[in-house]
Amino acid sequence: MNKPQDARQYAPATQRNREPILEILTQVLPTDGSVLEIASGTGEHAVYFAPRLSPRQWIPSDPNPLHCASIAAWSKHLPSENLQPPLEIDVRQPVWIVEKEALFATSPLTAIVNINMIHISPWTACLGLMAGASRILSSGGILYLYGPFKRDGKHTAPSNAAFDESLRAQNPEWGVRNLEDVVTAASRDNLSLVNVYQMPANNLSVVFKKSC
Ligand SMILES: C[S@@+](CC[C@H](N)C(=O)[O-])C[C@H]1O[C@@H](n2cnc3c(N)ncnc32)[C@H](O)[C@@H]1O
Repeated sequence: MNKPQDARQYAPATQRNREPILEILTQVLPTDGSVLEIASGTGEHAVYFAPRLSPRQWIPSDPNPLHCASIAAWSKHLPSENLQPPLEIDVRQPVWIVEKEALFATSPLTAIVNINMIHISPWTACLGLMAGASRILSSGGILYLYGPFKRDGKHTAPSNAAFDESLRAQNPEWGVRNLEDVVTAASRDNLSLVNVYQMPANNLSVVFKKSC
């Protein structure tokens, strides 16, 4: 059997979580401006969200060139006028590529969306995300996180505990984060917690706002 002829990758979880995530994004994202998606992965979320969240500009990104190729391939397959080409961004970089280019001259960056990254990367990635969001978000801009979290240092479900263990076995620097630690890190970078939403499969949506 021939393999697909393009670079599209597939992450089945995106099919399951995209609707509940979209529901929250529709409520919490500012109605205009640009949304930078950090850690877009395959790009399946980007092609699903962009047309549904128009007229906002959707800017996908990922540090992995293969993921950027997948995002570009998905964008070609399911084009959307407001979906921008993917950028290579590793949140641990002290300066992100968007800071070097006048990307937001016509459409200010009003939100950053980050789905399922901070537990599958070292804690320094979470800190880099907060620092970058604080540097580049417009005043009052939104940072949206989605994924599993511990609360008060405890897992909220046995499945999350098992997932945490499997993450740490893959890489000791990975692991399900404690919500309170994430909120504390965010507050050091002028990002205040606005709301926490319980999501399917023991995940949370966590929304921060950049203080003026
Ligand atoms: C589990 S995938 C999630 C992808 C996508 N958001 C989704 O929900 O399907 C984790 C993603 O985080 C990205 N990532 C890991 N470390 C990163 C970092 N330091 N900066 C930005 N992205 C990172 C990976 O390249 C990968 O695409």
